[in-house]
Amino acid sequence: MAKPEKKVVRFVDTSLRDAHQSLWATRMRTKDILGILEAVDDAGFYAIECWGGATFDVCMRFLREDPWERLRQIKAVCKKTPLQMLLRGQNCLGYKHYPDDVLERCVAKMCENGMDIFRCFDALNDVRNLEAAIKAVKKYGGHAQGTICYTFSPVHTVENYVKFAKAQVDLGIDSLAIKDMAGILDPASARALIAGLKKALPDLPIEVHSHMTSGMAPAMYMAAVEAGAGAIDCAVATLSGFSSQPAHGTMRAIFEGLGYETGLKPERLTEIDDYFKKLKPERALQANAGAEAVDVQVLLHHIPGGMISNTRSQLAQQDALERLPEVLEELPRVRKDMGYPPLVTPTSQIMGVQAVLNVLNGERYATVTNETKQYVAGYYGRSPAPVDPKLAKKILNGEKKITCRPADLLKPGLAQAAKELDPKLIKSEEDILSYCMFPAVALDYFKWRAKPEGERDPIPADGELTVAKAAEKAKQAAEAPKAAPLPPEDAKFAVIGKQFVALFGSLGGNMKVDASALAAAAPAADEAAPAPAAEAPAAPKKTLNATLTGTFYRADAPGKANLAEEGAAVKAGQPVCVLEAMKLFNPVKAAEDCTIVRFLVKPGDTVQKGSPLAEIS
Ligand code: CO
Repeated sequence: MAKPEKKVVRFVDTSLRDAHQSLWATRMRTKDILGILEAVDDAGFYAIECWGGATFDVCMRFLREDPWERLRQIKAVCKKTPLQMLLRGQNCLGYKHYPDDVLERCVAKMCENGMDIFRCFDALNDVRNLEAAIKAVKKYGGHAQGTICYTFSPVHTVENYVKFAKAQVDLGIDSLAIKDMAGILDPASARALIAGLKKALPDLPIEVHSHMTSGMAPAMYMAAVEAGAGAIDCAVATLSGFSSQPAHGTMRAIFEGLGYETGLKPERLTEIDDYFKKLKPERALQANAGAEAVDVQVLLHHIPGGMISNTRSQLAQQDALERLPEVLEELPRVRKDMGYPPLVTPTSQIMGVQAVLNVLNGERYATVTNETKQYVAGYYGRSPAPVDPKLAKKILNGEKKITCRPADLLKPGLAQAAKELDPKLIKSEEDILSYCMFPAVALDYFKWRAKPEGERDPIPADGELTVAKAAEKAKQAAEAPKAAPLPPEDAKFAVIGKQFVALFGSLGGNMKVDASALAAAAPAADEAAPAPAAEAPAAPKKTLNATLTGTFYRADAPGKANLAEEGAAVKAGQPVCVLEAMKLFNPVKAAEDCTIVRFLVKPGDTVQKGSPLAEIS
């Protein structure tokens, strides 16, 4: 009697990327990884996801590490298991489209430094945004994994997903991931989707990626594998559950019980888990403190795990946390208006912030962020369904929609970046690429790195980050790097002209804050300092006030012309200046026809909601 063919399912470990991004705010250090990497390499995984996503930004911004060096060190240890990363298509490692030359050099350097498998995704499932990334991966010898970002809506049918997968196959992908970033893919839908894909593309290997948010992931993985998926994404037990992946151990028991071969070494899984269990008190930001283990609401609002805590901290920043339920109700409406985009970086931020603004303003789309406008104008790609035509007309306000591949409009960026950088600060071509991705963050990191060790600002000690409050603060800092907190109790004040400069004893830096913010903090100020309220300039008669707490700018993008000059007459509804908050640029419009007498704050200043920005008449 012929032996039945052995069924096989392979596991991809996400502990070193997605899992700690989902649970530990991406705070795993390179030394944490190296401490257990040999065991991870030997555990029998199909691949180790260890780079990309938020890790690149966080390495430089918070951990003061060179992400490229992390990749090299990981590669030096992993001899058995391929390395895998998350590449945001034309967004590469960032939140916006980069020119093709930057993207191609990045991919070339990733290959050179040891990356093997590139999971390329686009938030809108617009294949044009994947072309350059997939082409580059193939050119430099990597494994190009295409991606379907999963969401459900009237326009997201199996037929459309199959079409999208075929378009990626035409670009040369080696495998396909179904990326269920919010954990909303149910088992029956997974079965139907994979059956459809397998029928149309029988030779295309499929990997399934999900999150435990709604609790369905283990059942969905089972259905997906039975329908033909060959690999699943899981994390080590300590880093599993909640908004992270299912645990290896759980899924291994399920599949081995069904007669599948997994290739996993259980003793290695235990060893890895013991290691991270010990590390957890130092690294876990308690992001889930207060959160439920299972959030079935995600099936309504589709917000990926990390985005909920962002939305919470944005509302807290605007002193409106109690309005979270309204925002969660508004978000599906915004998503429908905008043509049902899947919610994943950067669409999750764009739709999330627009929903926050719609609720806080009391009038939907009274304020539209520049990013929302760009989205409607086609600069992020094609939306799955057309944007509501009436709303599109209102938002575009005469501006033309683009129909080409958005990156076709970008000028090459590498030479310019190299020119902008001080050669004394950079050590390698990788540094230039880091700067292309995150200019301000990279520059800040390079300057920190260039200082002698004793003079560098300290990296937050491991222990300091372990409370929920610290997590909130870090998140807020990530959202609005320039937002100034109110002065601490030991701040001393000096009065300079219209503004006060707060000398921060405890923060070790100078910070300009708006007069009204200072007045609010005055009781806490050193009594020997002049009383800020008495020294404050007389308030102008009529002012344009800040609609949000954020950073003030006069132009809506760096390098662009000011929206309004002093002395200029503006019409009601005309944008006068911009407040950067929640990572986005929010225009402040004139409430009535008026003249801008003078601006009361300088570009780059942090302003509190309600404080005067300009004197008007
Ligand atoms: Co994920």
